[in-house]
Amino acid sequence: VNIDTDWLLAQAPVLSAGILTADMLNLERDLDAAEAGGIRVLHVDVMDGCFCPPVTLGLPVVAALPDRFVRDVHLMVDAPLSKIEAFTDAGADMLTFHLESTRHPHRVLQTLSGSGVIRGVAINPGTPVAAVAPLLDDLEFLLLLAVNPGWGGQSFIPATKQRLAEARALVEDRPVALGVDGGITASNIADVASAGVDVIVAGSAIFDGSSPSENALSLLKTIVRRPPS
Ligand code: DX5
Ligand code: ZN
Repeated sequence: VNIDTDWLLAQAPVLSAGILTADMLNLERDLDAAEAGGIRVLHVDVMDGCFCPPVTLGLPVVAALPDRFVRDVHLMVDAPLSKIEAFTDAGADMLTFHLESTRHPHRVLQTLSGSGVIRGVAINPGTPVAAVAPLLDDLEFLLLLAVNPGWGGQSFIPATKQRLAEARALVEDRPVALGVDGGITASNIADVASAGVDVIVAGSAIFDGSSPSENALSLLKTIVRRPPS
């Protein structure tokens, strides 16, 4: 699909479905179900076993996802500079790398400039939000991790609420979407959405072995649209 920051901000809050805990042998069935529940954006967690312990999904999965979905690719890999082009070639619509994964985050963003992809920078729970300030002219998406990267189904770290407020203030009046990833459940999604988050990633709350369509529907119902400013 062809999307840009304006589209993303107009849809906000967007629910991006993390496929890490989907049924990999029946992925198409799970994706169809999620779509029936209102999902348009798929979040793909790429881990290399170095930046964080697990090794997960990679290029073949990104390339295989039906392109009627927005492909929101979250790289948790070391040395992203040498890998980003392969992911844009594979069809990533949003490509997010970690600030902590490279000494040259600004150069990674420069390299992605002009590729048409929505450029995202993610930060771990232990990284000060202000560390992204020098990058704000060169990114379209800022993703705050509410868990330490590695696994689905972890608990939302409470300090994330304050960090989201800080990040909101930082990106205000800029064409930058704010996202949160990790630990989202039916019980905390409304509260998190009220912090003015544009993209909410939910993995195990949607793909939990039961009904992705019902799960997605009930999460989407709960999200309150932020009043226009
Ligand atoms: C954290 C990943 C997240 C996570 C989401 O390592 O980046 O996308 O798997 O899963 P839940 O929603 O289950 O925390
Ligand atoms: Zn993620």
